[in-house]
Amino acid sequence: MDPIIVSHVHLRKIEEDDLPRLCEFNLEPDSNRLAMTIPRGADAFAAHWKKVLTDPNVVAKAILVGNVLAGSISCFKHDGLNNIGYWLGKEFWGKGVGSRALELLLKEIHSRPLYARVATTNRASLRVLQKCGFVVQSVQLSPADDRYLECEETLLVLK
Ligand SMILES: CC(C)(COP(=O)(O)OP(=O)(O)OC[C@H]1O[C@@H](n2cnc3c(N)ncnc32)[C@H](O)[C@@H]1OP(=O)(O)O)[C@@H](O)C(=O)NCCC(=O)NCCS
Repeated sequence: MDPIIVSHVHLRKIEEDDLPRLCEFNLEPDSNRLAMTIPRGADAFAAHWKKVLTDPNVVAKAILVGNVLAGSISCFKHDGLNNIGYWLGKEFWGKGVGSRALELLLKEIHSRPLYARVATTNRASLRVLQKCGFVVQSVQLSPADDRYLECEETLLVLK
């Protein structure tokens, strides 16, 4: 953790101009290896975010360090449950930015329970969630689809 960087983390509404940079983050091979995801191509990414940004049930925020865009964090419905997801550019990993961003989002979203699904091998993401109070609810084999690789997935909940 870097206390100076952490003190500069804040969230704001995602703007259209953020999308090209967020798309680059989505394409980073190491991020996809960690999250066990298949990146979206530019068109699919743009279509996905167009839908997200107009969905009244989604809270989607840009994560900034100072005035630099570092990633995104969101709360969205999956199988009728409120789920949390986040994604940082690789250059921002390991400095406490993910943990601080989740802490800030949890101050804005008061509904509980909140859920998160994480590839069990993604220890950094598991740790971010557990530091913010999420606990493991179940572990299961998650089949591959067009967005995720087959993996063991941990479902966490914040009650
Ligand atoms: C997951 C992600 C958000 C983590 O963000 P981050 O800013 O690097 O995380 P932080 O620095 O706030 O905290 C990471 C914690 O995990 C720990 N950690 C990191 N790698 C670890 C590992 N391999 N094993 C165990 N713990 C690990 C760190 O030590 C830290 O814990 P600590 O504060 O107790 O020391 C970031 O890596 C990311 O965006 N990855 C790509 C996309 C992704 O995986 N999204 C989530 C999908 S569920």
